Amino acid sequence: MSAIKLSKPQWSSQRIFILAAVGSAVGLGNIWKFPYIAGENGGGAFVLVYLLCVALIGLPVLMAEIGLGRMGKANPPQAMANLAADFRASPLWALVGLAGVLAGLLILSFYTVIAGWAMDYFVQSAMGHFRGINSEQVGDYFDGLLANPWALLFWHTVMVALTLAIVAKGVKGGLEKALNLMMPLLFLILLILLGWSVAQASFQDSLRFLFAPDFSKLTWEAVLVAMGHAFFTLSIGMGAMMVYGSYLPKRYSIGKAAVWIVLADTLVALLAGVIIFTVVFGNGLAAGAGPGLLFQTLPVAFGQMSGGWFWGTLFFFLVVLAALSSAISLIEPAVSWVEQNWRISRVKATGLLGALVWLLGIGTVLSFNVWANVHFLPGKTFFDSLDFITANIMLPLGGMLIAVFMAWVVSDRQRQAEFRLMPGLDAAFKWDLRLIAPVGVLIVFASNLASDVWQQVVAVGVALVLYALYVYNRSRFNLYRVADKS
Ligand code: PHE
Repeated sequence: MSAIKLSKPQWSSQRIFILAAVGSAVGLGNIWKFPYIAGENGGGAFVLVYLLCVALIGLPVLMAEIGLGRMGKANPPQAMANLAADFRASPLWALVGLAGVLAGLLILSFYTVIAGWAMDYFVQSAMGHFRGINSEQVGDYFDGLLANPWALLFWHTVMVALTLAIVAKGVKGGLEKALNLMMPLLFLILLILLGWSVAQASFQDSLRFLFAPDFSKLTWEAVLVAMGHAFFTLSIGMGAMMVYGSYLPKRYSIGKAAVWIVLADTLVALLAGVIIFTVVFGNGLAAGAGPGLLFQTLPVAFGQMSGGWFWGTLFFFLVVLAALSSAISLIEPAVSWVEQNWRISRVKATGLLGALVWLLGIGTVLSFNVWANVHFLPGKTFFDSLDFITANIMLPLGGMLIAVFMAWVVSDRQRQAEFRLMPGLDAAFKWDLRLIAPVGVLIVFASNLASDVWQQVVAVGVALVLYALYVYNRSRFNLYRVADKS
């Protein structure tokens, strides 16, 4: 049996692991997606459900996923195959990793398109085009950008190329330094913007919108979106955190890292939300404006601030960096799987997968112009469909299975050795993963499926595709635990 290459620990400190994981978690999900889906789903009640999902499902699943990566010591499909062999469970568990590989590529294909918008805004802002701009002018600018598929394609290409350049070099090279600087800076700008927001008359409206729950506005679909976003924003359910965990030395505490990741991620999202809705209500804009919300609001705030040119330019630059540090974690599960199990060099694997992602991204580019009225899932553009299938179905499903595996398949002894939690916390962790997380996901799934025939079709379709993937790739799994010779 030829041995599969295993992942070797490579984070040089606990802090750098946390930085990389926060880099993965904090991204467009926090700054771009959270505000617009909160706006579309009525605010407060949605935010409350999202926070509950983050605390009750997100945090424990995040820990479980990092732990499985470290215990399985390989790329996500192989790590799951290793663990299934260790615990005499079905090799079908490798499917969880494989589904993650696929979900990561699908997400990345639209992620780079949106990050491209931020790139365009960075350039516009740097050239001074947003000076003193009002909300109508920003709206016009944004509409013009989206109407131009060539511009979107150009920036999408730039973002894919940047992502590939970093990933080809391996996880650590260069990234460490960038993250070190960028995370604190991003935070600083958000605080400056918060200071500006507090002084606006509409600040109160923003707080009320986001934090005073009105449950009459909450639908089951909104609960699904909130839950899906908890997975998306924490980068869980698709193997990104698993692969980062596989590079984590045994001596570091997973629990502590996970708490920091969740706190940082949630704080950035809430700050972005409060700031953006201050602009929305101060300028009579619509809270439910959709994916353009960030891009139609913040230039207005910068346009009115003193030093706004500088802060605005820096802000969009940091959004690009935050997106990049997430993008590399979206493709890392796939790259490490192709590299380790297909025995293709890292550079080639990156190139191959990058080409795939770039091609698929064209569908998202067209979703905002030429294909704006073409629906893939009912009522949803290509972009909306991809977003829905990944964030609202694949990630919660993957996260649920990760929880089930950690709490039902992994032995108590192994779990305790891996996490070293105090007895009370360990029990809470285990029972949360055993019951609360999986049942929570199932209830939300079931309530949506019950009311919606086409969601049933999508669910069955996703399951079939994944099973076919498993059958096709079965021979690539080394189903015996490879001795750790490293
Ligand atoms: N968490 C990232 C964000 O909020 C997106 C992401 C999802 C990254 C899944 C990796 C895995 O932008």
